[in-house]
Amino acid sequence: MADLSIDFAGIKSPNPFWLASAPPTNTGDQVMRAFDAGWGGAVWKTLGDPIVDTSSRFGAISVGNERMVGFNNIELITDRPLEVNLREIRECKRRYPSHALVVSLMVESREDWRDIIRRVEDTGADGLELNFGCPHGMCERGMGSAVGQEPEVLEVVAGWAVEFSKLPVLVKLTPNVGDITEPALAAVAAHVRGLSLINTIKSIVGVDLDRMVPYPVVGARSTNGGYCGPAVKPIALHMVGALAREPRINVPISGIGGISTWRDAAEFIALGSTSVQVCTAVMHYGFRIVADLIDGLSNFLDEKGMKSVSELRGRAVRAYAEWGDLDLNYKVAAHIDPAKCIGCDLCLVACRDSSVDCIHVGEHPLPAGHRAPTRDAAIARAQQGGVKVTWADWDECTGCNLCSHVCPVPECITMVEDSNGKSFESWNDRIAKGADKVPGGLHD
Ligand SMILES: Cc1cc2nc3c(=O)[nH]c(=O)nc-3n(C[C@H](O)[C@H](O)[C@H](O)COP(=O)(O)O)c2cc1C
Repeated sequence: MADLSIDFAGIKSPNPFWLASAPPTNTGDQVMRAFDAGWGGAVWKTLGDPIVDTSSRFGAISVGNERMVGFNNIELITDRPLEVNLREIRECKRRYPSHALVVSLMVESREDWRDIIRRVEDTGADGLELNFGCPHGMCERGMGSAVGQEPEVLEVVAGWAVEFSKLPVLVKLTPNVGDITEPALAAVAAHVRGLSLINTIKSIVGVDLDRMVPYPVVGARSTNGGYCGPAVKPIALHMVGALAREPRINVPISGIGGISTWRDAAEFIALGSTSVQVCTAVMHYGFRIVADLIDGLSNFLDEKGMKSVSELRGRAVRAYAEWGDLDLNYKVAAHIDPAKCIGCDLCLVACRDSSVDCIHVGEHPLPAGHRAPTRDAAIARAQQGGVKVTWADWDECTGCNLCSHVCPVPECITMVEDSNGKSFESWNDRIAKGADKVPGGLHD
């Protein structure tokens, strides 16, 4: 079995799976039960001046039968007294010395940072995570994303924490910025030891059209909240990858955002994460999901012949290129399996109305010289009394993938490599050759 243990800037953890700072890490009882369930680490619910929360404070987007595909909250930091939290952190660390216990912090002044860091260090915690990401409530008070969105301010505040702390300091970044590398570089300039991302995305998940109040409803009002859950994974993956491929970012990354399965976790690790943090999936299904995360990742590493999770780390980073460096001569075409097609025509309509109209049904004429590898089989199926199924004209197909995404039948439409024998050539290669100056040179 592959070795899942990690060392994150000196913070050791039996596996890369950490709970993110959020409701599941609110108390010692929760964190200890999570460790018993198999979580390798936890980032404690953000400590600071205890706040008052609203009721209600969560909103969600469900798609069909899939509940909480996107999740939204207007919760603030901890509402429990600092001494209680510190006592429980100390107890937790005493009972689980080999698990990673990181404490999330958010306070305002230099003195406040000095004071809270001194008190947290005294608990035996392994590291600090500075919450510069919360996009609601706390930012109105000059904290959270108000710091994370201003690289110069971020560098100063992170610098205080680094100055006062003997523990590794991580900065948790907000995705509510134009270019994630700017705050990340500011954090690195402040000599932090790691980066966590993403915190939640500023959002309104919907509107109660009877009351005419956005969700989550708080009496006659609401406010923008922070979006997370499976829906945000693509945004988080991009941001993690963007930092992992930036050579000036030389600290480990803790990937967060929409992780629910071992596959999600493996993707974050392949794009450069050392640890991964989970919030919404645990709020949805409980601490027990970690058993599947561990099993799945472990089996995957074994299958791929990787002896440790560190062999997976960053494997996909090299392949994350600029658009201008992609191979314009690479070509795929839609292969519609006549035996699997149910004749629903969704692909045909999508291709006709939103792409190049290369999908046809039945005896539709094929221009001379064009190839349609499944046409005869599709016609034969119709002639034998089966449903009329679709086929693709490969010489018209641009390989956009739309048909394969709308098709409701698993593996019915696959995109097959249709090599044209041309060697690699990117847009940037063409620009370098001056091809953009040749009429039609950009479109061949
Ligand atoms: C209800 C709720 C409360 C949260 N509280 C905090 C917090 O106190 N500190 C923090 O850094 N992040 C907080 N987060 C953000 C999560 O730690 C995490 O960054 C985000 O939810 C994305 O991960 P996910 O898609 O797995 O939920 C909170 C998220 C939720 C849903």
